[in-house]
Amino acid sequence: MSFRIRDIRARQILDSRGNPTLEVITSLEGGGTGSFSVPSGASKGEKEAIELRDGGKFLKGKGVLRAIRNVNEVIRPALVGKSALRQHEIDSIMLEIDGTSNKSRLGANAILGVSVSVAKAASNQLGLPIYRYIGGVNAKLMPVPFMNIINGGAHAGNDLAIQEFMIVPSNFRRFKEALFAGVEVYMTLRDLLKGKYGRTSINVGDEGGFAPPMKETEEAIEYLIKSIEESGYGGKIFVALDCAANSFYDEKIEKYKIDGKELGPADLIDFYLELISKYPIVSIEDPFYEGDWDSLVEFTKELGNKVQIVGDDFFVSNPDLLRKGIELGAANALLLKVNQIGTLTEALSSADLAFRNGYSVMVSHRSGETIDEFIADLSVALNSGQIKAGAPARGERISKYNRLLEIEEELGSMAEFIPLSSQLGI
Ligand code: PGA
Ligand code: ZN
Repeated sequence: MSFRIRDIRARQILDSRGNPTLEVITSLEGGGTGSFSVPSGASKGEKEAIELRDGGKFLKGKGVLRAIRNVNEVIRPALVGKSALRQHEIDSIMLEIDGTSNKSRLGANAILGVSVSVAKAASNQLGLPIYRYIGGVNAKLMPVPFMNIINGGAHAGNDLAIQEFMIVPSNFRRFKEALFAGVEVYMTLRDLLKGKYGRTSINVGDEGGFAPPMKETEEAIEYLIKSIEESGYGGKIFVALDCAANSFYDEKIEKYKIDGKELGPADLIDFYLELISKYPIVSIEDPFYEGDWDSLVEFTKELGNKVQIVGDDFFVSNPDLLRKGIELGAANALLLKVNQIGTLTEALSSADLAFRNGYSVMVSHRSGETIDEFIADLSVALNSGQIKAGAPARGERISKYNRLLEIEEELGSMAEFIPLSSQLGI
């Protein structure tokens, strides 16, 4: 049963926003196959690895045929014959051929497609689910789902500055219970929004959350709380925010534009402190724009033992930036998006570094997704205890949740589910 790579092929497919992306298929001499479809972000961190796009007029420049050519004509000849079990070597070869610090030559989309499809092919040939192949015998912790049910910022056509208003079904015994409680809250929110803002308010944004015509942060949070309470889950389901503050920071005036106000960093901290004192907020992501490390450090000093503070655009899943954060005491959690960094090996190193330094890890989708379920497996493989996969709507989001239901059933009595407060000691 040879694990040597027989072939690697890429093709252009579509993501959930209708933009082109790559699907990469790897097959092994022993018959194992694996495919991976690469996701894509809309509110990206500046330091993310580069997603190679064709440019030009066709498809508004968004085609990925150059990245596909790189897979088929540059990466393939270098990897055919190599063992798919040697993930580190596979990824190192690609990094070496690329030769840049941000993967701009081959494209992080091309590299990641190969990286994950190789891992999937190996696990397929071994007859192991991916969570078991990557995580080993101890992979057993089901993640608390972070469900983005009101969309704002760059993901929606409304005036909410904050990008993601999430519910966190946490105090349950099993993933299945948590998920369906979250679904119930989502259903309740739909009814409440329809009653208040009319039918158009229940159209959904990029991640399946509603995009009602709200303007103010507290209005959105109030609706989450109302939906949680009306569904009978007060004290069991909490609230989390992804501010994605890059998108409401105005560089020219050096202020954050939110809720009709222009706030300096100190005022923005006060704004968050008030929200946290008023509402059951357990986690807050990218509260400042990615250059404002000082404010992130101060915020962490003040609140790091009460709430989870997640770095996304700050860290872009990059071990070097995470190391900087750890040294400074910035944030206490890593958002892990495999396509921000571009190889499975580096993503696993980032997670490792986070865990070793007492940072939690939230495995995350992108706003542009496909039905690929890989991140569901990855969250269990890492025993990360947390996943951000959008609202329980739209096929590309529910594919992750449905896969987790399947994994929980497969794990049977081995499956664990730990409420966030116990995970974090908050
Ligand atoms: P993106 O954003 O996938 O659109 O970049 C998601 C996030 O900020 O977490
Ligand atoms: Zn984010």
